Amino acid sequence: MKIVSVPLKQNAYDIVIGRDILPHLGAKLKTFQMGRDAVVITNPVIQRCHGAKLTEGLKKSGFSVKVFEVPEGEVAKSVKAAFAVAEKIARYDCFKKIFIVAFGGGVIGDLAGYVAAVYKRGVPYVQVPTTLLAQIDSAIGGKVAIDLPVGKNLIGAFYQPQIVWSDVTVLSTLSKRQIRNGLAEAVKYGAIKDKELFTYIARHSNKLLGLEPEALSKVVLRCSRIKSQIVTQDEKETKGIRTILNFGHTVGHAIEAAGNYTTYHHGEAIALGMRVAAEISCQLGMLRPQQARALNDVLSDIGLPSKIAKLRMADILRMMKHDKKFITGRNRFVLIPDIGHVQVVEDVPWPVIRTSLQKYL
Ligand SMILES: NC(=O)c1ccc[n+]([C@@H]2O[C@H](COP(=O)([O-])OP(=O)(O)OC[C@H]3O[C@@H](n4cnc5c(N)ncnc54)[C@H](O)[C@@H]3O)[C@@H](O)[C@H]2O)c1
Ligand SMILES: [Zn+2]
Repeated sequence: MKIVSVPLKQNAYDIVIGRDILPHLGAKLKTFQMGRDAVVITNPVIQRCHGAKLTEGLKKSGFSVKVFEVPEGEVAKSVKAAFAVAEKIARYDCFKKIFIVAFGGGVIGDLAGYVAAVYKRGVPYVQVPTTLLAQIDSAIGGKVAIDLPVGKNLIGAFYQPQIVWSDVTVLSTLSKRQIRNGLAEAVKYGAIKDKELFTYIARHSNKLLGLEPEALSKVVLRCSRIKSQIVTQDEKETKGIRTILNFGHTVGHAIEAAGNYTTYHHGEAIALGMRVAAEISCQLGMLRPQQARALNDVLSDIGLPSKIAKLRMADILRMMKHDKKFITGRNRFVLIPDIGHVQVVEDVPWPVIRTSLQKYL
């Protein structure tokens, strides 16, 4: 078992990473003063694959356990689904002291975290991430949110969990596509902050795709450390430090939106976004082409897309111009002068953006 601390002053917590640790969450939580009544929010797929281990462990440690299932997929982050589960909790929550267990991928983590933040003006919650993306990214840092029909994550809060419990064994039931998605974010961490991690992923992409626990644990650990360091310096995203986590995301989000969130999954879109950002970095003379090639090679080895198929440049650019990160009409990109280093650059000339995008269309 490895522990990464997130030393936020009032809201410090640990990220615990290990193999087969799901049944032991209960024993750990016994040492916390959160209440005796666990409300697990999950979906039917996750519950079927791994629910029993979590529930039995909690019960063994003396907790009462109630499981509420929400629908599969992003629809669980709708206002309707969020308030439906909050209402179920309210009906159940009689003579109890509840805490919430967010048991699932990023969707469940965001939804359950949001419900925990607003139900009774806040009840404690625990993140038990079950996708690679959630373990290395969404479960850490306290950003919780639901969607509105006009846009994703528009209703939300910063609300830190009591603990993040990452059991890499649960990743064994993920599809290859989900693993690739998570690995795209892992490559991002390496590219912006950790050359050694980058090289590790490049050398061991087969082991990672084959879900070898040792390789996965190493990657989850290193990525968790990086995310922890970044969010600790900028808990509420007011200092611009969290911005570096958006490497590949400016173009990536635009690709996701232009494809109506169906053509590409998030990791695939940001893989393309990272390729474009590396190309922009090269065109601005910041990055050596050899380094950009190294990034492209890792992404291809993982099996992430190398071409933006089925989308038009005009649609991607239009989506990019609507990006909330483009303050007062100036564009802003997270670029890399080297693998493991970042630089935020404003006002990248549009012709450079266009030719860089064109390379991947
Ligand atoms: N809060 C943040 O900081 C943050 C950061 C990044 C992304 N996000 C959010 O995360 C969401 C995406 O998260 P995701 O990629 O984890 O997707 P997801 O939560 O939709 O999970 C992907 C799929 O895998 C299934 N699944 C989950 N765990 C499984 C397991 N162990 N075995 C088998 N199937 C399993 C889910 O049911 C789902 O179908 C988006 O809503 C995004 O906005 C939030
Ligand atoms: Zn992302």
